[in-house]
Amino acid sequence: LNRASSSSSSKSQVFRRAYSDSSVPGRKVAVLGAAGGIGQPLSLLMKLNPLVSSLSLYDIAGTPGVAADVGHINTRSEVKGYAGEDQLGEALEGSDVVIIPAGVPRKPGMTRDDLFNINAGIVKSLCLAISKYCPNALVNMISNPVNSTVPIAAEVFKKAGTYDEKRLFGVTTLDVVRAKTFYAGKANVPVAEVNVPVVGGHAGITILPLFSHATPKANLSDGDIKALTKRTQDGGTEVVEAKAGKGSATLSMAYAGALFADACLKGLNGVPDVVECSYVQSSVTELPFFASKVRLGKNGVEEVLGLGPLSDFEKEGLESLKPELKASIEKGIKFANQS
Ligand code: NAD
Ligand code: LMR
Repeated sequence: LNRASSSSSSKSQVFRRAYSDSSVPGRKVAVLGAAGGIGQPLSLLMKLNPLVSSLSLYDIAGTPGVAADVGHINTRSEVKGYAGEDQLGEALEGSDVVIIPAGVPRKPGMTRDDLFNINAGIVKSLCLAISKYCPNALVNMISNPVNSTVPIAAEVFKKAGTYDEKRLFGVTTLDVVRAKTFYAGKANVPVAEVNVPVVGGHAGITILPLFSHATPKANLSDGDIKALTKRTQDGGTEVVEAKAGKGSATLSMAYAGALFADACLKGLNGVPDVVECSYVQSSVTELPFFASKVRLGKNGVEEVLGLGPLSDFEKEGLESLKPELKASIEKGIKFANQS
């Protein structure tokens, strides 16, 4: 017994030494909406991330419990819970990355845009606080409709004089996660090896997976590509319907959100060649915001990568998505400037 406990304590010393290594800088990550369906598993996954030294869990209520629970996990980060608006400033102060899954989710029959009336106001007030308390943080926007909430955030930051287009991201990683899963199943290739860029936006036909760029290559028919595209575009709805009124994707979203935040942290830490798809300010098309591959670096977006050659089917998809994405962007900008 003694031997067992002394060996486990020496192991935990090695563990601690590894994480106090000065080559891994301390990073504070705040999760806004941390008591929610996405917020809780996302907080868990961020607690498991060795790049995080301080984890700040904010919600309007319920966060002391989530923080106490997650905080007992013996990994690097210290965890603090903050509840209510009067604690938002403290929750945000010093954050390197702020992840926002705050807001209401869809029920069957709703579009993401149906969430606009409630979530636009939530996002606006959270972004106002970010501009005040951690204007240099990288913001990972999960709250829907992402096609509009990212432009809202940009306008709020512009008004506050803190906007830096390199630091604002709409999280579209779940679309990539889904495209990879569905492609691997259809192409019968190992899912862990699959890469598929997804561009455009994050709602219905604005989600455009580029299966012509998918690797490993597979000889799929046009019909297969069409069906895979549709399933990726409808992935969120598939989960909303399966949950039958109990919300939308939370677990796969937490996974995707944790992947994207990890990529942001790696970029901040100077890890080279960190590339993820994200919905960012863009000149890839004529639209001011667009999701495409982005290289992440010490200041956030280092480079917005172009689309590369598209199949005729993808070219068509790109043209069809533009009017809807444009309208969603304009709706967000208008909201931020009128209220
Ligand atoms: P949820 O209702 O389970 O949780 C939302 C949480 O936000 C709740 O705990 C609530 O208290 C909190 N909240 C509300 N107002 C707040 C405020 N002003 N400040 C801080 N927190 C606040 O919902 P969920 O399933 O976690 O989904 C959250 C959002 O994420 C929804 O808008 C949903 O559509 C979106 N979503 C986006 C993606 C994506 O791919 N980007 C994927 C899934 C869900
Ligand atoms: C998703 O893609 O799962 C999210 O945007 C949630 C939703 O409403 O579909």
